[in-house]
Amino acid sequence: MFTVAVCMAFLACLQAQELQGHVSIILLGATGDLAKKYLWQGLFQLYLDEVGKGYSFSFHGAALTSTKQGQELIAKVLESLSCPEDMEPGHCAELKGQFQRLSQYRHLKTNEDYMALSKDIEAQLQHEGLREAGRIFYFSVPPFAYADIARSINSSCRPGPGAWLRVVLEKPFGHDYVSAQQLATELGSFFQEEEMYRVDHYLGKQAVAQILPFRDQNRKALDGLWNRHHVERVEIIMKETVDAEGRTSFYEEYGVIRDVLQNHLTEVLTLVAMELPYNISSSKAVLQHKLQAFQALRGLQKGSAVLGQYQAYSRQVRREQQKPDSFYSLTPTFAGILVHVDNLRWEGVPFILMSGKALDERVGYIRILFRNQAYCAQNEKRWVVDQSQCLPRQIIFYIGHGELGSPAVLVSRNLFRPSLPSKSWKEVEGRPGLHLFGRPISDYYAYSPVREQDAYSVLISHIFHGRKDSFITTENLLASWVFWTPLLDSLAHEVPRLYPGGAENGFLLDFEFSGAQLRFCQQQLEQLVPGPGSAPMPSNFQVLTAKYRESPLISAWPEELISKLADDIEATAVRAVRRFGEFHLALSGGSSPVPLLEQLATGHFGFPWAQTHLWLVDERCVPLWDPESNFQGLQAHLLRYIRVPYYNIHPMPVHLHQRLCAEEDQGAQMYASEISALVTNSSFDLVLLGMGTDGHTASLFPQSPAGLDGTQPVVLTRSPYKPHQRMSLSLPLINRARKVAVLVMGRVKREITMLVSRAGHEPKKWPISGVLPSSGQLVWYMDYEAFLG
Ligand code: BG6
Repeated sequence: MFTVAVCMAFLACLQAQELQGHVSIILLGATGDLAKKYLWQGLFQLYLDEVGKGYSFSFHGAALTSTKQGQELIAKVLESLSCPEDMEPGHCAELKGQFQRLSQYRHLKTNEDYMALSKDIEAQLQHEGLREAGRIFYFSVPPFAYADIARSINSSCRPGPGAWLRVVLEKPFGHDYVSAQQLATELGSFFQEEEMYRVDHYLGKQAVAQILPFRDQNRKALDGLWNRHHVERVEIIMKETVDAEGRTSFYEEYGVIRDVLQNHLTEVLTLVAMELPYNISSSKAVLQHKLQAFQALRGLQKGSAVLGQYQAYSRQVRREQQKPDSFYSLTPTFAGILVHVDNLRWEGVPFILMSGKALDERVGYIRILFRNQAYCAQNEKRWVVDQSQCLPRQIIFYIGHGELGSPAVLVSRNLFRPSLPSKSWKEVEGRPGLHLFGRPISDYYAYSPVREQDAYSVLISHIFHGRKDSFITTENLLASWVFWTPLLDSLAHEVPRLYPGGAENGFLLDFEFSGAQLRFCQQQLEQLVPGPGSAPMPSNFQVLTAKYRESPLISAWPEELISKLADDIEATAVRAVRRFGEFHLALSGGSSPVPLLEQLATGHFGFPWAQTHLWLVDERCVPLWDPESNFQGLQAHLLRYIRVPYYNIHPMPVHLHQRLCAEEDQGAQMYASEISALVTNSSFDLVLLGMGTDGHTASLFPQSPAGLDGTQPVVLTRSPYKPHQRMSLSLPLINRARKVAVLVMGRVKREITMLVSRAGHEPKKWPISGVLPSSGQLVWYMDYEAFLG
């Protein structure tokens, strides 16, 4: 009976092999660190999981090492492989023996080597009568080697018809958007998108891989909670105790943002923030939803980041890269970033991403902290853990290490009892005395994996099963770089805060946020002002008041100037609303007003926005959603933070009948009519202008044929700079305003400031010189750089 059963099983197995076919796995860089530490073990685990399920396998460890040396190295690695703890030792030894026999080393370098490999695979298939299912090439090699290997695989080592090819790539995938795109284009010339599996090993960490299944299996409980009304903040954290010693040549080029935040933490962020697809086992749906999450990320500003560098870092770079003693690196080894997701689900919820080397502990987690909106009437002593709504409520995906020492999913008992797959997750046994995130572990429903698995084993299994959603697609990769590159560029010369490393960091790296800004809690300890007799600091200056072109001039350092102007605008607004019930403000575009708008948006809580009408001084002839559009600037830096009734917002109609600024569409006339209908006497309460280096103001440029005089209140004009076509308020309309403020900032404006100070009324030459409100007031706001040079 037993013999019959074995024969049947064997036959079934043979048939299945016949059905499923043979898979060749080629590990490139098979003698390298990653391969030795994780990849061989992952391949062995794949073999253990899949053997007997219908596939046959061969494993080719490839490298540039000579055949003899390579064979010895591989034999050593294969000997050290281990089976899961619960496997019977005899069975383990048998399977390990099989795996060792199926694995061989080969020297792989030239195109001919790849051709020979392909021939050998085909010969084996023929000899054993197997059908080929597919080939996996795992690139565990530095990226500079990618192109040559990819070319050889594509030209000489593709599997036959009907069999699949999968190539697995390891980061870094570029250094910024442009380099990532170049690399992607190059790889795309050899491989189809579905053939490429870009690894982010964090997607293989068990707690991270559990985020979507957890959200799916607990939909009912989470549906009402997973949004801005209930989530106070999300923390995505990866702390390390190790530093970058030994790899500073890599680290100098990348730094912590490129090394960890752009990839690992961003991937996690999208898993938390994305809309949950109806069917999470559809890779396509998951990837699409992930991409949508990227599109909802609000662009980062310099102020969205705090940077640090452990003190020994520059010394290590000097030593490892033979740099002179005078060399100091600016590469951050610590970063905290504040991210906002601009959609209805997450608007206003801070997502804090943080990672660093040489910190006090090694730990990784994603913590979703819920708002506490309850008041508990009874004394704290009587609160019951799973019922009291006053105790903290949080969900934590614990990636590993730290106090707990293993991956886990934790849910506060006063939230809900979660459902997790009981085959792979078990409840954590009580650990008296252990506190996590401010609460004893007994306050949580806590689960950990039944069998802890290394991330690479998880991912190798996903590659084998074609689970593309655990990998980074080209679109996803580029979307991430689109998000991070502007911030990286803006931080390129930022000096990171130095920290001693380890427990000594104390509170030095703690940071806090207000609005969209992040800053360290503690002031820098170094003395910035060297003492008496030294050069004056910005704060030593007072706001200066004088006259410029016969009108009041206010001059200060930029921050104070912006504060003063914002205060003045608020005061004007309050006065206007008190007198007339409304305030009409016309704003210019460009970069100078950006800090002003942000200051108004985030620091002026008494501003009467509900009674304010916002008008545009000028506009570029581009669609309103174009980043070049002045209205888009207004939207990005002001409108999205404040509450103005939408009928009080008046963009210029540059885009009518699906075309831009066509004379026949009469957009300028339409705007003029709107002004005359809503603004008493067409007299704005306040017009904010700038001054260009050529003396232009609004979109009125030197020698402009329209707008410098005449009767047309709003005109179409041309700018010497792109985009050339513009719409602008005319000087006569501007001069009807009750008040005009001209904001001039930066050293580049110094020369024009001097020229205009001496000019008479010459609007054709210097349009700004034509600004002179007929019965209103003109005030100049110049920073010291523009005014004093
Ligand atoms: C790698 C980074 O991607 O991730 C390393 O390059 C970092 O700098 C490592 O140390 C952390 O991974 P893990 O699995 O140890 O958390």
